[in-house]
Amino acid sequence: MPMSETSGVLAKSPAETAWGGDPNWWRQAVVYQIYPRSFADSDGDGLGDLPGVTSRVPYLQELGVDAVWLSPFYPSALADGGYDVDDYRAVDPRLGTLADFDEMLSALHNAGIRVVVDIVPNHSSNRHKWFLEALAAAPGSPERERYIFRDGKGANGELPPSDWVSTFGGPAWTRVPDGQWYLHTFAKEQPDWNWDNREVQLDFLETLKFWADRGVDGFRIDVASNLKKDLSLYPDLPTQEQLWDETLWQPGRFPFADRDEVFDVYREWRELFNQYNPPRTAVAEAWVKPERQHLYAAPDGLGQVFNFDLLKSNFDSGEFREVIDRNLLHAAQTGSSNTWVLSNHDVVRHATRYGLPFDETKDNQIARKWDLADGLTIPLDAEQGIRRARAATLLLFALPGSTYIYQGEELGLPSITGIAAEDRQDPTYFRNAGVDVGRDGCRIPIPWVSNAPSFGFGTTSASHLPQPREWGNLAVDVESTDPSSTLSLYRNALALRHKLQTGEALEWLDAEAPNKNVLIFARPSVVGSVEPSRGANETTGAAGGKRWVCATNFGKTPVPMPAGEVILTSSPLTGPAELPAETTAWLLR
Ligand code: NOJ
Repeated sequence: MPMSETSGVLAKSPAETAWGGDPNWWRQAVVYQIYPRSFADSDGDGLGDLPGVTSRVPYLQELGVDAVWLSPFYPSALADGGYDVDDYRAVDPRLGTLADFDEMLSALHNAGIRVVVDIVPNHSSNRHKWFLEALAAAPGSPERERYIFRDGKGANGELPPSDWVSTFGGPAWTRVPDGQWYLHTFAKEQPDWNWDNREVQLDFLETLKFWADRGVDGFRIDVASNLKKDLSLYPDLPTQEQLWDETLWQPGRFPFADRDEVFDVYREWRELFNQYNPPRTAVAEAWVKPERQHLYAAPDGLGQVFNFDLLKSNFDSGEFREVIDRNLLHAAQTGSSNTWVLSNHDVVRHATRYGLPFDETKDNQIARKWDLADGLTIPLDAEQGIRRARAATLLLFALPGSTYIYQGEELGLPSITGIAAEDRQDPTYFRNAGVDVGRDGCRIPIPWVSNAPSFGFGTTSASHLPQPREWGNLAVDVESTDPSSTLSLYRNALALRHKLQTGEALEWLDAEAPNKNVLIFARPSVVGSVEPSRGANETTGAAGGKRWVCATNFGKTPVPMPAGEVILTSSPLTGPAELPAETTAWLLR
């Protein structure tokens, strides 16, 4: 159905963002991810909230970010950290009110920072009004049609319709009192929507419009790849073993993920986004094969897709080079721009990841098998971790495209191990006993003030996940006054990036690399000039018409520094003409 026929959902003239602006703002934006419950707590209940975010706008402004992406702040029982949404058009009362949201939005906009909110369209929570209606209604009713209900197998339907396993472990079907089963590809508290249902489609348009009208600049689309499902083989659904056999599924035809029809949904969303000025942006979370990833970034669809390839890579020049080349090519083919990500709320923080042994399977990158409740099972070299993290981040900031920072990585925060079972929250932990401890270790509340209860996260000592005692040393107030801190590095790097970044071109300078462990590239000519130094990480330089060069030494031994004026390095210089081991340098020439 064309957009104009959507039962009046778009009848009102869409509001314009008060401060309007560049429709391409997203292409090279630095986006800071806020996980609201762990960012800043204004009322001392141990849970971060929206007024907390508002109180930290000056911090975000000083850091130099262009946008924030807020993970879900909607009403939720927190079965999955807020990704189990009870009501898509409201604020969790523990986190504030819609008025608090509006206040936060204008404070961020007044500081020149755009706002991206998280939309969770694959599933609702089991407390959503429509799921409660579905439970109260009879099998086959229109209420049940909004979700995916099926009869079970076995003589009395006592067996699930298939043996599918959910993403967090355990069965993907749960039985309801009248005997039917509903599909949840994540936790049982997250029933999957039926995206063939027009009411569901229209309701999400209403939600997008609700936030876009309030002035939200863009959307991060959770599990963007999985909305469309094909259960036409029911009752003989494929088995889990068949699902795992990739040879059985043509690209775009897997039963419940990455199906080609999902792009129809996003084409309709794009029509809505383009009715705003500037058009609302969107970025897809789609853990799909590299060759399918760019489909989610189509200009007549969401426009951008998360590229998790660097996040999954080892600290290795060959892997980085291959990932950068492939993704720049894909972005150019779609007319999108790239997204670079090293950490988020779902993975081991990169300061820790890079301290773990080289991992062929890549499991260390995203899984948490090494962090069992009784402590580390794989040796961790924390010093190497932070050194490599700083080098990789500086490389990332020099790449064309938009870049994502996950709250706390600018402080060099590690992932935390050994959280007691009673303090854990992630469903992954509870559904995979002894195998995967889940994601709580990267969601610990931020330390703001070294010498304050909950390190200034809140006004009391309450913190919904326990903070390690030594985190005082990593608090914002401590790092702010230390020119060699990771926070100072991020602030200097982002200030320079803003001045140096012009076009989206990148030129490899392979001939200059002293060995295979070194990657060197240049960005187009600089138009402005670089201000004098603000800290020990940064040296002075006037940059009129010069090129911005980024060199990373992934190796364990120093190499000769490439030609040019060094303006920033990720670790201290060891000699005037030396690029230290596991270090990135920015130069002008
Ligand atoms: C991806 C989100 O990033 C993650 O935190 C969540 O658990 C799943 N989607 C399910 O919504």
